[in-house]
Amino acid sequence: MKHMKLVLVAVVAIFALGAIGVLAQDAPSGELEIFSWWTGGGEAAGLEALIARFSELYPDVSVINAAVAGGSGVNARAVLTTRMLGGDPPDTFQVHAGEELNAVWVAAGLMQPLNGIYEANGWLEQYPQGLLDLITDAEGNIYVVPVNIHRSNVMWYNPAKLAEWGVTVPTTWDEFFAVCETTMAAGVPAMAIGQNWTQVHLWESIALGVLGAEAYNGLWDGTTSWTSPEVVSTFETLGRVMDCANEDMNSLSWQDAAQRVVNGEAAFNIMGDWAAGYFLTDLALVPGEGFGWAASPGTDGTFMMLSDTFGLPVGAANPAAVEAWLGFVGSAEAQDLFNPIKGSLPANTTANISDATLYNAYFQDAYTDWTSNTIVGSLAHGLVAPPAFSNAFAGLIATFQTDHDAAGAAANAALLAIQTGM
Ligand code: GAL
Repeated sequence: MKHMKLVLVAVVAIFALGAIGVLAQDAPSGELEIFSWWTGGGEAAGLEALIARFSELYPDVSVINAAVAGGSGVNARAVLTTRMLGGDPPDTFQVHAGEELNAVWVAAGLMQPLNGIYEANGWLEQYPQGLLDLITDAEGNIYVVPVNIHRSNVMWYNPAKLAEWGVTVPTTWDEFFAVCETTMAAGVPAMAIGQNWTQVHLWESIALGVLGAEAYNGLWDGTTSWTSPEVVSTFETLGRVMDCANEDMNSLSWQDAAQRVVNGEAAFNIMGDWAAGYFLTDLALVPGEGFGWAASPGTDGTFMMLSDTFGLPVGAANPAAVEAWLGFVGSAEAQDLFNPIKGSLPANTTANISDATLYNAYFQDAYTDWTSNTIVGSLAHGLVAPPAFSNAFAGLIATFQTDHDAAGAAANAALLAIQTGM
């Protein structure tokens, strides 16, 4: 009898503990600081939509939106580095899947594994394996939750303006340079280009088009030589495209450059599909009418991807709230809320991508390509190379923008690849 009682007490105690555990997880409270670079251009609206729904689900958590302005995180990443290495991490932060996550934060042991959240939500079956591979270490620890899939190699245009100028969408760089002659003669730059990081972004699309998927991938696994004539020609092509572009490129944000295309002040812009978010959410344009899109020249059939994710850094002040946030943002519900505003595809495959009232013609087209094309990874957005390489590569592009020395740029990139152990 006494024995029975003891067992009963033990069982009750275990249940009570379990209940406390569940309670603590179910009703987090306190502040949750969310760090990102989403401060405008459809991105802020997408984040705000997530925060609004999260706040309904978790009314006791007060969210601090600690976004730092600057496209592609140019400023946010510097602030994040200071905070992470100074022992003052935000509760959760935006980071790209791939090397931006792995080569720095995971390598430094500053991220907490999230396998429990994946298992509890059945996400191991709901996220594409290729994406999971980008955020998992050799021991099988998964470190972040992806909120989207973005495409980098997209060329945007204004259909009515192209008709007015009598030009069609170029599918090769040679065709682009023919278009350039026509539009430049009419006083219109053929390409709208923005500040330095957007020039790196442009280069990666050019490199993919000039080299093809296999040789482009070879840049990141060492099988393509940076000093080969083909790679030198990627820089030459970039130089020629810059000659077809607006001269004030260094002072334009990505939104400014995209806006020039809408306004008819430039024919094309190569930018990730956050530009779709900008056109749809900020400018309320109709896809196919107010803006058109195509794979950047020479890249049809290839989808250059990147993914925005959030994780739980070691030392986060409010891990229970972060776990609630991550459990939410990885869900199909959250991804269907966020991505139609943001311009990206949901990463969770149980999201409702086939609902055309949520995901318009742009998304349907992108989804067809995502599920049928050859997939490669973005340099400008952290996937294929460690920040030690990509940050210095941005400096090399800045130099190239002024001197147009293609052989010099290729040689410096080769040196960088050696120095950063790629
Ligand atoms: C990328 C990011 C996108 C978007 C873009 C422009 O790096 O992945 O979500 O924020 O920068 O800011």
